[in-house]
Amino acid sequence: MWNINNMKNFTSVHDAEDIPKLVEEAIRLKADPLQSRIGHNKTLGLIFFNPSLRTRLSAQKAGYNLGMNVIVMNVDKDGWKIEFEDGAVMNGDSQEHIRDAVKVISSYVDVLGVRTFPELQSREDDYSEKVLRQFMEYSEVPVISLESATLHPLQSLADLVTIEEYLIKKPKVVLSWAPHPKALPQAVPNSFLQWIKKTDAHVVLTCPKGYELADEFMNGVEVIHDQYEAFEKADFIYAKNWSGYHDYGKILPVEEDWTITKDKMDVTRQGKFMHCLPIRRNVVATDEVIDHSIVYQQAKNRECSAQAVLKNILESHG
Ligand code: CP
Repeated sequence: MWNINNMKNFTSVHDAEDIPKLVEEAIRLKADPLQSRIGHNKTLGLIFFNPSLRTRLSAQKAGYNLGMNVIVMNVDKDGWKIEFEDGAVMNGDSQEHIRDAVKVISSYVDVLGVRTFPELQSREDDYSEKVLRQFMEYSEVPVISLESATLHPLQSLADLVTIEEYLIKKPKVVLSWAPHPKALPQAVPNSFLQWIKKTDAHVVLTCPKGYELADEFMNGVEVIHDQYEAFEKADFIYAKNWSGYHDYGKILPVEEDWTITKDKMDVTRQGKFMHCLPIRRNVVATDEVIDHSIVYQQAKNRECSAQAVLKNILESHG
């Protein structure tokens, strides 16, 4: 069967061999969602350790569009307490080891998606992707990341699809840090930089000093600490909060107001405001900015993006 990406698993940008073709395929599937029923008689399993609205529903819908059966489990609420340490003597709270749980789950499904967040306590633990790696090690079937400790590739693919829909050649794309009352993961900004750097976009990151991301994501990205200057003539503003990478998991003191306002959007080139959602209104961005944004288009594109990934995985695995 024709397969553009020979996809075994989908956990980062490195699993997509041909990103422009994957984006094209997602756009084709958006126009005609029922064009392929390659998933007929196959089962998609979606396992959540953390809350989700968009990822859960869009992945379910994507599976149904391809003719798949879909089963979903909130393992943090409905399952036994999972032990992640190898060799653990399980005489405490944990009732089931991750290797047993994943072996069993993967015996019921043909493709397995998993969402897990970082704990934001130890950078080494989170960046080792302990949970996702164990799913990949113990699963008998392909694994899709529904957001991991450090990356959110399904979101990033939807972001590229959304930008591509505007057909702007060499767009200026600004990733802007924005305020938030709680410490959040770096997965969305890390992943967005990984993916957007694969396009022809001029990529700028703006954040308060101290909020720089890991070098592997920042390499090749222009950094401007003045938010107004960074926004000048931008075609897209992608807002997101994240906690410190260098001062790991911390909320650092910030003096200026980094909330995205209409005044700031006015210095862009009629720039489109993007956010992965959920968004805290009038903290990350004002109502006015969000209500004139493309965030719902972005969220809608989660469905065709997940469908393109699932289709490629099913094609790769016969
Ligand atoms: N953007 C995103 O992943 O949304 P959910 O957390 O609701 O899935």
